[in-house]
Amino acid sequence: MSKHMITLNVNGEDHDIVVASNKTLLEVLREQLNMPDTKYGCGTGECGACSVLLEDNSAINSCLTLAATMDGKKITTASGLEKGDKLHPVQQAFIDHAAVQCGFCTPGMVVKSVSLLAKNPRPTEQEIREGLEGSICRCTGYVKIVNAVEAASKAMAGTAG
Ligand code: FES
Ligand code: FES
Repeated sequence: MSKHMITLNVNGEDHDIVVASNKTLLEVLREQLNMPDTKYGCGTGECGACSVLLEDNSAINSCLTLAATMDGKKITTASGLEKGDKLHPVQQAFIDHAAVQCGFCTPGMVVKSVSLLAKNPRPTEQEIREGLEGSICRCTGYVKIVNAVEAASKAMAGTAG
């Protein structure tokens, strides 16, 4: 198996690492960089648990992305959204609206929601549901997640309440 030397910036920190050509970004995050906040759900691009943000605020499935293709890229995982000890408004809204139950889908849902709000700061309920398509939650029935994203949208616009 060939190896590649890459520099990957995760949550603002550069990592110079050697990755095997068959390793996914998800495997490298969890196993090589010891960052388990990005979850391994299906491994086949169907659940969204492994979503990470790229610099352009698009969200990708890290289980479908080969790490070797990420040389020089900057990514943000769910834990990188916090600023110091302050949660990102989307993270806070998920807590405030009970959108976290078992929590397994939450990092991916939060990442996808941040991506959605970066592109569409005031989404309709329908647009939120479409934006989160491909992310599966087995616990909440999605209503609380949609409510949380709507609340985060208002909070980020400075019109909470
Ligand atoms: S683990 Fe990547 S989409 Fe399910
Ligand atoms: S909170 Fe359990 S899968 Fe979403």
